[in-house]
Amino acid sequence: MQVEPRIAVIPRGLTAIGATSAPFEPALPLRDLRPGEMRRVTFGDLDVLFARTSNGIVAIDDRCPHMSAPLSLGELDGCLVACPLHSGQFDLATGLPTRMPTTGGLDADGTYHPVWSPPDKEPKPDPPGIKAEARRLTRVRRIRYYPVRVRDGMLEVAVPRA
Ligand code: FES
Repeated sequence: MQVEPRIAVIPRGLTAIGATSAPFEPALPLRDLRPGEMRRVTFGDLDVLFARTSNGIVAIDDRCPHMSAPLSLGELDGCLVACPLHSGQFDLATGLPTRMPTTGGLDADGTYHPVWSPPDKEPKPDPPGIKAEARRLTRVRRIRYYPVRVRDGMLEVAVPRA
């Protein structure tokens, strides 16, 4: 009997708005996402990244929280995904940055996080004035997750539709 793969728990506050009430829909065959692999699947104008991490399968927006590069072109190592554009790195088990350049911003639920700094560095201050306000209101700065499940060998995902 085939053992179903683990589905990772979505970090608190990072579920995409509307995803918990959205219907599941087919995304790709499970056999097309082997351990350690990533795949982009597009739903309308939403590009979703499926990653089979060491912590389980996750589905997130396929865009880096720094400047929106497609993370699907990056590299996955365990739970860590590295961005192809400026080498930012994120832990998909927690949704947190682990390497610069990355910034803070809004969770999917609107919770604000200040500019991220590595634990061994002095905190980087927010830029002053309009830049701080623009950063504060930038929602793409945090990873958004979508619920995933496996049915009959297919990976399914719940993505909200307009
Ligand atoms: S766009 Fe990903 S680190 Fe800059």
